[in-house]
Amino acid sequence: MKFFIDTANLDEIAEARDMGILDGVTTNPSLMAKEGISGHENILAHYQAICDLVDDKVSAEVIATDFEGIIKEGQELSALSPKIVVKVPMIRDGVKAIKWFSDNNIRTNCTLIFSAGQALLAAKAGATYISPFIGRLDDISADGLQLIAQLIAIFDNYDFQTEILAASIRHPMHLISCAEVGAHVATCPLNVFQSLLKHPLTDIGLEKFLADHQKANG
Ligand code: E4P
Repeated sequence: MKFFIDTANLDEIAEARDMGILDGVTTNPSLMAKEGISGHENILAHYQAICDLVDDKVSAEVIATDFEGIIKEGQELSALSPKIVVKVPMIRDGVKAIKWFSDNNIRTNCTLIFSAGQALLAAKAGATYISPFIGRLDDISADGLQLIAQLIAIFDNYDFQTEILAASIRHPMHLISCAEVGAHVATCPLNVFQSLLKHPLTDIGLEKFLADHQKANG
């Protein structure tokens, strides 16, 4: 299972990278705005800074919603670095653009997936990744994890190269449940990765080991 971090914060990306568990980064326009990044040139420079921090797989989202605009923006983003994955929304022109990018060897991440039908369309168009948003489904009393399991079952029937990238993960059990059903990738905020570390018995056990060592060794 690959771990991506879902943030545009450079310190958080460096922290996850330094833990040694990071395979990539996902961003979106809201996460970029949260970091105060605005203006075309600043946005491109920030994606470049993210690429400088990690080995590969940096999802950078287009703002355009028409085919020509998505292609133009996606080409500009992918020219920044071979690490860029162009993030494209699940809309009609987005699907067309994913097919164009796929034919031109540009990797894509189809975002805002909320149904199996949308996932199938993106996979057929040749998306490298599809991002089903599980937390946002849970927010409206639907079952986000059930969608991940459904997509794994569907993709197992065929030879799609598309990877299922579980997104909108809000807590550690979301991540564990995605791993149980076999999601290829999970993108999470830093605090979700950090909370995987914690167990009270680990803390109690370590404290005892160190105390016993101290007693025996003075
Ligand atoms: C995925 O690529 C999105 O950036 C993200 O996971 C959305 O998460 P949210 O629903 O917590 O905003």
